[in-house]
Amino acid sequence: MKPEDARERVEELRRAIEFHDHRYYVLDDPVIEDAEYDRLVRELVELETAHPELAAPDSPTQRVGGRVREGFATVRHRVPMLSLANAFDAADLADFDRRVRAGLAGEDVEYVVELKFDGVAVSLTYEGGRLVRGATRGDGVTGEEITANLRAIRSIPLRLRHPEPPDVIEVRGEVYMPKEAFARLNERREEAGRPLFANPRNAAAGSLRQLDPGITRERKLDIWLYGVGYADGVAFARHTEVLAWLTAQGFRVNPHTRTFRTLKDVERHLVHWRETRFELPYVIDGLVLKVDRLDQQKRLGATLKSPRWASAFKYPPEQAQTTVEDIIIRVGRTGVLTPTAVLAPVPLAGTTVSRAALHNEDLIREKDIRIGDVVLVHKAGDIIPEILSSKPEKRTGSRPPFAMPRRCPECDSLLVRPEGEVGIYCTNVACPARLERNLLHFVSRNAMDISGLGPAVIQQLTERRLVGDPADLYALSRAELIGLERMGPKSADNLLKAIQNSKRNSLARLIQALGIRHVGERAARLLAERFGSLSGLMAAGREELEAVPEIGPKIADSVLSFFARDSNRRVVAKLVQAGVNTVAAHPAAAHPRPLAGKSFVLTGTLEEFSRAQAAARIEEFGGRVVEGVSRQTDYVVLGKNPGRKYDKAVKLGVMIIEEKEFKNLLSGIQPRY
Ligand code: IVH
Repeated sequence: MKPEDARERVEELRRAIEFHDHRYYVLDDPVIEDAEYDRLVRELVELETAHPELAAPDSPTQRVGGRVREGFATVRHRVPMLSLANAFDAADLADFDRRVRAGLAGEDVEYVVELKFDGVAVSLTYEGGRLVRGATRGDGVTGEEITANLRAIRSIPLRLRHPEPPDVIEVRGEVYMPKEAFARLNERREEAGRPLFANPRNAAAGSLRQLDPGITRERKLDIWLYGVGYADGVAFARHTEVLAWLTAQGFRVNPHTRTFRTLKDVERHLVHWRETRFELPYVIDGLVLKVDRLDQQKRLGATLKSPRWASAFKYPPEQAQTTVEDIIIRVGRTGVLTPTAVLAPVPLAGTTVSRAALHNEDLIREKDIRIGDVVLVHKAGDIIPEILSSKPEKRTGSRPPFAMPRRCPECDSLLVRPEGEVGIYCTNVACPARLERNLLHFVSRNAMDISGLGPAVIQQLTERRLVGDPADLYALSRAELIGLERMGPKSADNLLKAIQNSKRNSLARLIQALGIRHVGERAARLLAERFGSLSGLMAAGREELEAVPEIGPKIADSVLSFFARDSNRRVVAKLVQAGVNTVAAHPAAAHPRPLAGKSFVLTGTLEEFSRAQAAARIEEFGGRVVEGVSRQTDYVVLGKNPGRKYDKAVKLGVMIIEEKEFKNLLSGIQPRY
């Protein structure tokens, strides 16, 4: 391609990708298929690689620079980022309204009422319409420069949509973590033995402060824009105009903003959101009132800390009192015992709560929670029930402190508490509870993603001894599945297909699925990238493991002891035998796809690849595997003892290649007749 054509095409692609990002991330209304979108990104990556002079920091390919940074620089805000004065009840609000009206000599006032998002305030500076800087609020005067991390939030436009954008504009908003993402992140952290985040705000703040923007991207952060700080080249008369302008520029602006003329209407709105807020997929802790007219805002001015034209109405934190009816113990897949409080059902933050995780023995002791106690509960991040404290003064009679059992409640084996850890573990690798959880983890969405294997099916499989480890899943027959309760032929077939398909999963998924302690999604990916295959990982020594960025002694230890166990090595061998993919693919966008659009038929046994591995390779490089040979087939790959497909290929004149040529093809070398 000629340089000027490339330039034009790059620009075209960037515009298209920006358009689709906005449809997807801001409007939540995509207009193309993922595959089509991926194709655009791939083409852009290829062009930018071939023409490095066209690279630009605001290209959609730069959302994650991938570079781990040294630390954050500080930036001084051009206009200080103030905070808001709080109002906690109707009287506070009436005071605010009175002061506003007095300050404006009785003029009419319109209040814009927004949700008060519970996240991290950030500022985004655009120069000539391009995002040049992103920063945290910090102390209001100076914040931390976190441009790379903010670029990783896909709903933040890298370029404004205005054809003649203002010279400089600094916009402001709140970065937050959706409730679901928070709950899942904590689940994963608990499984990996890492400290939990107290709420989505802390999780968002922690994620923004990661030195590696890749982590920020994985954390599923999002943003609501709610204001403009400094602007040169654009003027507004009202706050509502600011919000409309932000929307038009492609920013995500919250749809629940309303305007009211009287305090009464505002109060009604407050009552409406008191309960409704729990239905939102993100946490709000109140509402924000802002005087709409900017000339009025200016006249009202600000104190050192907060503007006089705005007020934050805060809802009291939701708490409830109930009793602990029981404390039950669950055995997790790593053998860890997790205590859960069974509570007398109580309404709390929009749902009825009847359980609360107690995490570990130390926590129960610290809070002195006993069976029968009256306790105060809340929901972390409006979603995860937690016991805040117990009320010992309400205890009647003598109630012994809670003690963890000495033997596993599932298999009666002895329990251990490793030094320096809070967890208590069942030592029996064959503990049925562990096996079930292990299997559930193995098939879960983030791991091998085998749908149709819920707890009920897994329980039957283990009880009937059809499955003794995850690798046995690949040996299940149709008849065995149909024999299970509530499993018809159709669901059995679907399940078998899902199990088959999972063989082609990435190496990272497989490593995660093994359930090595402390190895979550990210560690699994890093290990897969570094070692390239399961055998490579198994052969790695301590030094090699610890040389992987972000892999510390704890994870290294855990990997080593996992593969040191005979039982685990046996499972791995069985997985390999079953044809599960154990090698890493190259990063999809970066590696060439020499087989794009080509169709393949496999016949006979290959030496170096199982059928599934060969299929995985073909797909990874862009090709397709089909069952029958036709004139449309591009290649028939010939192994030992081929079947009738070979004869048909000869008859139709389809190109037949042997294993060596197949391998050449994967490296981009075309076979010759
Ligand atoms: S306006 C001068 N609007 O609340 C006005 N802030 O204590 C500055 N916040 O630091 C902020 N939702 O992090 C504004 N709709 C909203 C908000 C909001 C949440 C946060 C923001 C700010 C803090 C104020």
